[in-house]
Amino acid sequence: MGKNIEISEKIEKYINNFSLKLSPVQKEIIDYNNTLGNEKRMQVAISQCHFLHLIIKISNIKNVLEIGTFTGLSALSISLALPEDGKLIALDKDKETNKIAVSFFKKAYQDKKIQTIIKPALNSLDELKNQKFDMIFIDADKLNYKEYYEKSFQIINKGGLIIIDNVLWHGEVVDEDKMDKYTLNIRELNEHISRDERVEQIIIPLGDGMTVCRVL
Ligand SMILES: C[S@@+](CC[C@H](N)C(=O)[O-])C[C@H]1O[C@@H](n2cnc3c(N)ncnc32)[C@H](O)[C@@H]1O
Repeated sequence: MGKNIEISEKIEKYINNFSLKLSPVQKEIIDYNNTLGNEKRMQVAISQCHFLHLIIKISNIKNVLEIGTFTGLSALSISLALPEDGKLIALDKDKETNKIAVSFFKKAYQDKKIQTIIKPALNSLDELKNQKFDMIFIDADKLNYKEYYEKSFQIINKGGLIIIDNVLWHGEVVDEDKMDKYTLNIRELNEHISRDERVEQIIIPLGDGMTVCRVL
């Protein structure tokens, strides 16, 4: 069996140097997040921004829902990849980080494409039940992931993508000594999705691990 390369920080930098270039405002968000200390870990990895960009372009995706926006890096990456008439609805419950995210969206001239909704995402999802999306990106509170996943089926188009972040949970999903509620919850979600005949899915080892589900 072929062996995957281990991605050290040095290789990660190399990959980023020779991949898509980040826009000035994406860089500004990363710089801002770097000032936040521990909270910085909330943000997606640069490789995930590039992956979302590519998948939106090659799948002609127009309408996206994001669950968990924080200061806006993944949302801005999604929006920049969307066509001019594309739309992103970005959900988060945190007013303060949302203000910051919206200021970055304005700076990048993406505020017409991005609508933010500030409330618990389960409530927003119920209110959005008459809309349809080509892609849903789930990156919020982990214990609700299964509910977000299930509710996504009411609003995702056939052939659409449901992408879930953090599914490798810093590698703890395979550490048998880890039995805390977060690890158990992610393991249970991964098993649930792997048995789900409504999708075909792969886990890709970018950032903290993402599952990409294509809805059949
Ligand atoms: C991991 S961060 C999202 C990171 C973001 N995608 C990025 O690229 O920077 C998770 C976000 O989910 C939000 N969140 C947590 N629980 C939530 C809930 N019940 N409803 C809506 N948002 C929630 C948090 O406020 C936080 O901003």
